[in-house]
Amino acid sequence: MKANGGNVGFLNQGLEGVAKQIGGIRPWYDGLNRSWGEPLSAIDYQELEGPIEEAMLLRLGTVAGPVFTARGQPGPTAAAAADQLRSAVNGHRWIHLCTASVDGQLVGFKVGRSNDPRTFESWVGGVLPNARQQGIASHLARLQEAWCRANGFQFIQTETAHDNTAMLTVNLKQGFCIVGTYLDRGTHLKVILQKDLNKRNGQCAPHPIQ
Ligand SMILES: CC(C)(COP(=O)(O)OP(=O)(O)OC[C@H]1O[C@@H](n2cnc3c(N)ncnc32)[C@H](O)[C@@H]1OP(=O)(O)O)[C@@H](O)C(=O)NCCC(=O)NCCS
Repeated sequence: MKANGGNVGFLNQGLEGVAKQIGGIRPWYDGLNRSWGEPLSAIDYQELEGPIEEAMLLRLGTVAGPVFTARGQPGPTAAAAADQLRSAVNGHRWIHLCTASVDGQLVGFKVGRSNDPRTFESWVGGVLPNARQQGIASHLARLQEAWCRANGFQFIQTETAHDNTAMLTVNLKQGFCIVGTYLDRGTHLKVILQKDLNKRNGQCAPHPIQ
């Protein structure tokens, strides 16, 4: 995987190094030893493209539990989350990952993939609970968009659960338009959002009323 940010040494380390890296990550409930609403110190953003290496998959897996699981609920193991991400993303022709770290600790990420040169699919992302509402997801989205523009994509597409207010808000504020909905596995209503990179933010086509 090609790194576009600085400080990429950890990407080149073997699995032993990964274990040390993960061992050094504090548990999520301890988080960044800060209270809700307390501003974060400097946030280091990095971008990588191409298949995600094992070291990074495991780092992402480590934060996936706390990012996607409600407090007190058991989350996926780092290895299980890394497996899911590997099979969902690696193997695509275009892959882009951006991360946000504080003091070397991963606090947020956004991953996208595509086999289609026109439309890039923003696949999954999240921010640790204690680091939310400080603009990290928005910044990651802007990095992804800039990379998509630089790589000739015309659209970014994503899906969000209908009740995920936070993610819907982030996407709408970044200029995504709702282009459809569907019932996933017959029960979960999903909202499909798309951003046309050739249009200015907020220019969503009116949907014909049938
Ligand atoms: C969705 C998520 C990534 C947002 O991350 P974040 O870093 O807190 O988002 P930002 O700080 O960039 O917020 C952007 C805007 O959305 C708004 N927003 C964020 N969370 C919100 C919430 N829970 N309710 C309402 N608005 C919210 C912010 O107020 C902000 O608006 P502003 O620019 O006017 O201040 C984060 O809540 C998360 O990780 N959720 C769990 C994982 C998840 O659901 N991922 C998406 C599915 S793959």
